[in-house]
Amino acid sequence: MVTGGSSGIGAAIARTLARRGWQLVLLARGEERLAEVAGELGAEQEVCDVADRAEVERVAAAVRERHPAIRLLVNNAGIPGGGGFLDLEPDKIEALVRTNYLGSVWCLRAFLPALEAGAPADLVNIASVAGTIAAGHSGPYSASKHAQLAFSRSVGVELAGSGITVHTVIPGFIDTPGFPNRARFRSRLLQGLVADPDLVADQVVRGIERNRLEQFVPRWYRPAAIVQAAAPGLLARAARASGVRRKQK
Ligand SMILES: NC(=O)c1ccc[n+]([C@@H]2O[C@H](COP(=O)([O-])OP(=O)(O)OC[C@H]3O[C@@H](n4cnc5c(N)ncnc54)[C@H](OP(=O)(O)O)[C@@H]3O)[C@@H](O)[C@H]2O)c1
Repeated sequence: MVTGGSSGIGAAIARTLARRGWQLVLLARGEERLAEVAGELGAEQEVCDVADRAEVERVAAAVRERHPAIRLLVNNAGIPGGGGFLDLEPDKIEALVRTNYLGSVWCLRAFLPALEAGAPADLVNIASVAGTIAAGHSGPYSASKHAQLAFSRSVGVELAGSGITVHTVIPGFIDTPGFPNRARFRSRLLQGLVADPDLVADQVVRGIERNRLEQFVPRWYRPAAIVQAAAPGLLARAARASGVRRKQK
């Protein structure tokens, strides 16, 4: 079960899993892109908004009728933020929380009986480096990813001994249709920080096979999270000095 399997990281994960013989159900809101990727991979598809708890429960019940036992849930569906707490529309701030954080919670709860029936099974949560650092850029997105990261780490402990292993994957800048990071950066140096979705997909599969509980993709993003935790004042001063502040009206 791959949420957000119609684009970017989710589609790359689906392709990698399909190559390894997995039978897949892909989930997203937009039917056109979903049908394209599902058709390419011989996967099943479910149109569903993960931010809508009732819809997630309804769709999960329908999937569980066909597949009472599943081996893997990838909580990948997510939306970008692109703004601060003071300039984003309130509806957008709510959508970020409902999709990026609560969407993962509702999907796990709805598919849990099928994961338990399929155990040993795996849950992969696609978090973000933005969930480990908060330095002024895209604060509401970052906050939604901080919440999702806390969910992933906490539920891993809640599920210990259940036969369901929780893997937290923390990507940095990845170039995808939803997050066109290569086009965003002008400097070659910054463009060099951007990776392709296939790298995340490979690390997801490797993480499952090698039982890794938490991994940054690429690995060299981890020190940034360490700096945030060990020296938050330093990071805050650096962000202020770099001009990350509210646009003057
Ligand atoms: N790209 C990056 O730099 C980056 C870095 C770190 C983490 N991430 C995380 O990686 C995940 C995938 O992002 P991406 O870069 O691959 O973006 P993307 O290309 O926009 O793909 C997002 C996928 O999620 C689906 N989706 C969005 N909202 C949904 C909803 N409410 N219900 C169901 N499906 C929904 C989209 O399909 P529909 O729009 O049709 O629903 C699409 O399939 C996100 O959680 C994102 O936060 C991305």
